[in-house]
Amino acid sequence: MSEVDVQSLAIERDEASADARGHAARHALLADAASRAQRYLDALPERAVRPDPDGVRGLAAWDTPLGDEPTDAHEVLRLLDEIGSPATMAMAGPRFFGFVIGGSLPVTVAAGWLATAWDQNTGLAAVTPATAELERIALGWLVDLFDLPPGTGGGFVTGATVANLTALAAGRHAVLRRAGWDVEADGLFGAPPITVVVGEEVHPTLVKSLGVLGLGRNRVVTVPADRQGRMRADAFPRIDGPTIVCLQAGNVNSGAFDPIAELAPRARDAGAWVHVDGAFGLWAKVSPALRALADGVELADSWATDAHKWLNVPYDSGLAFSRDADAMRAAMAVRAAYLPATGVREPSDFTPELSRRARGVEVWAALRALGRRGVAEMIERNCRQARRFATGLAAAGHQVLNEVALNQVVVAFGDAERTRRTIAAIQEDGTCWAGPTTWQGRAAMRISVSSWATTDDDVERSLEAMLRAAAAAG
Ligand SMILES: Cc1ncc(COP(=O)(O)O)c(C=O)c1O
Repeated sequence: MSEVDVQSLAIERDEASADARGHAARHALLADAASRAQRYLDALPERAVRPDPDGVRGLAAWDTPLGDEPTDAHEVLRLLDEIGSPATMAMAGPRFFGFVIGGSLPVTVAAGWLATAWDQNTGLAAVTPATAELERIALGWLVDLFDLPPGTGGGFVTGATVANLTALAAGRHAVLRRAGWDVEADGLFGAPPITVVVGEEVHPTLVKSLGVLGLGRNRVVTVPADRQGRMRADAFPRIDGPTIVCLQAGNVNSGAFDPIAELAPRARDAGAWVHVDGAFGLWAKVSPALRALADGVELADSWATDAHKWLNVPYDSGLAFSRDADAMRAAMAVRAAYLPATGVREPSDFTPELSRRARGVEVWAALRALGRRGVAEMIERNCRQARRFATGLAAAGHQVLNEVALNQVVVAFGDAERTRRTIAAIQEDGTCWAGPTTWQGRAAMRISVSSWATTDDDVERSLEAMLRAAAAAG
């Protein structure tokens, strides 16, 4: 062997051992992260749901000047876990009932880890075929689950806020195209005016979307709502000219549905684009027992929902759908020499972002793991648990202010001051967590049961804690 051969053999040996060391270091780091995550998740059911006050004060330990020198990766993880974990809210745990926030099914956490390792920027199908295919399939399953029209197009976005934005952009395109105007090319200056109809109880993020789209937060026709927060069909306006009607499936406080089966056909017959904000309510459609609540949603033109709420996938994950897939594509797609049309479904044709993580992986994993029956059972269980909260609280003399038809309970503990004290005591106690709202002019607490992890025992423990806090606040 020549001297050159010996030298190149030695270099290869060095590279191989450096490779092995690199693998070993990565294995140790990911194992460290996995075991810290396991410990965190194991502790969730018994720790206080609220962030630990000492832990929150301890966050100051992160606030150092950025050093010049690198920090060992295990030390970085340790800093995250030891300083961050105690200061988290146990949203992933079984007794978090604030806002409308699901947990994360274990299979979706695991699928998310794999998807993070894949690191697929899921914009173009030819570049990321595996994740683009998972999203195409999951979308088909969702269209079927929600009973949406065949051919419906959709995109995987961050949440219902951006899902509303995306779907309403499709609606804006369609109503102006019918009026002979190309809004993507020419904008809104000089365009035929669009009338936007919303309910008095419209979610504020939908109103924000209207502002972003140039349709105006205030430039809307607002239809009064009834005592449950449903749009009043008898007060629905006459429709004339380019119009977008925004209906709601699931009020963020009461869980109530607008009379969609009545209003959607009326609005569509008059030429309007009908959008349904079903951030969590759309999931009622999956359950034979609850489906009637969402009757008529399939008659709309576009829909927004969340997967991070009731499908229980990790944050963030929302879904936008459009009956007219071309309208959504027209509003969202971009082409460039390096982004050619390929004739297949390009994920980025349906989302505001070109680059993004492969959110559909966790959605696919949740649906595949649960099956149609599993999704329905999860939704029905949470609704049954919400009813148990309502009957338990009412039996103790507290005022349940809504018809508990879905997973939401709005409860007052006497006057505003006592209600406020009770909520503060519930949060401080730490058994569970629920937040304040004002409903029909009354200070109240919202309970949203949205997690796969909540057992009936969790509901009983939480109910006891609420009743204890209310008695102490009395
Ligand atoms: C009816 C409705 N629409 C939109 C949203 C906004 O959803 P996200 O926070 O996922 O963007 C919510 C959130 O609770 C909601 O209840």
